[in-house]
Amino acid sequence: MIMVTGGAGYIGSHVCIALLDAGFDVVVVDNLSNSKRTSLDRVQAICGRSISFEKVDLRDEKAILRILRDFDVTAVVHLAGLKAVGDSHENPIGYYDNNFVGTLRLVSAMKTANVRKLIFSSSATVYGNPSYLPIDESHSLAPTNPYGRTKYFIEEMLRDLHGSDNDWSIAILRYFNPVGAHESGVIGEDPSGIPNNLLPLVAQVAIGKRKQLVVLGNDYPTHDGTGIRDFIHVVDLASGHLSALNHLKGPGILTTNLGTGRGTSVLEIVQAFESVSGSAVPHTIGDRRAGDVAACYADPTLAADLLGWKSTKTLVQMCADHWRWQSNNPNGYHPPTQPTSERDAPT
Ligand code: UD1
Repeated sequence: MIMVTGGAGYIGSHVCIALLDAGFDVVVVDNLSNSKRTSLDRVQAICGRSISFEKVDLRDEKAILRILRDFDVTAVVHLAGLKAVGDSHENPIGYYDNNFVGTLRLVSAMKTANVRKLIFSSSATVYGNPSYLPIDESHSLAPTNPYGRTKYFIEEMLRDLHGSDNDWSIAILRYFNPVGAHESGVIGEDPSGIPNNLLPLVAQVAIGKRKQLVVLGNDYPTHDGTGIRDFIHVVDLASGHLSALNHLKGPGILTTNLGTGRGTSVLEIVQAFESVSGSAVPHTIGDRRAGDVAACYADPTLAADLLGWKSTKTLVQMCADHWRWQSNNPNGYHPPTQPTSERDAPT
């Protein structure tokens, strides 16, 4: 049985599909602070298999220990965490508590239960401003915001844990920019409030929920002046977790990027999305966002060498799948708003 923390979320729901399809049993632990239980109903429908679910916060170490034992967990895929850079500046205590302390309690419970296999969701944000491109795993680590530092400190803690007890088997996966959705179009990213990331914003503009996209800077030293990122299809990202799990046969610790190695600019995303969706994405040029870098993309060689994993999906597939999810579910997992009285009913 594999425990997936944060399994009801955007990446988690796709990881659950990869695990179920590979024949693993899954128990999801999620406090639903930024996710919906419905996503798991849909995962079960896609896979034709059931998932166990526990609405538990990771900081509740007793509850985690109970789940590890009751479900006979053999490995944990740990994705739960807060991830909004802006919020992390305003609420560092909350971020350290949720992300760092949550992970600390998790590994403490794992140690007690003698479960020593862990896959951890880290981020390319741990590298900070790239000093060269593409970024490989030996690039220096200098995250530029509290969110990124929670990921960095967790990585350090896991390295210390392995240093103290070589029986641990740990994979640290540094994600680049996950986008897209399962090709069924029934699960996908459902950001609460105003999305922070580019693809959800582009999709909401394309469907008419937002008037326009503001391109945050067109004076970067890139070919079209807009920011360049390594967008990776979330289904590819999910399969990277499966590869890591299959690779972790014995004790050890590995750290690897999960990216495509290809950089795509903001304007290239807008164009690809327009042509796939057939909808216009009106946009204006705004100021740069504080903390943004011109370009960031992965060297994915190590993941290929270590895990035998490579991304397979194209930019067109990323946009098409993102669009299918968005257009089939304009309100995400929320049901469409019902008229509350006769007066509001459509005529
Ligand atoms: C952001 C986070 C990063 C996190 C990553 C993935 C910041 C500073 N960094 O990175 O820590 O790991 O998401 O979740 O928030 N853009 C626009 N208009 C918009 C929004 C974005 O032009 O309204 C541009 C950005 O300037 C950037 C690109 O789109 O060039 C991608 O932005 P985003 O999706 O927020 O990802 P990152 O900046 O890579």
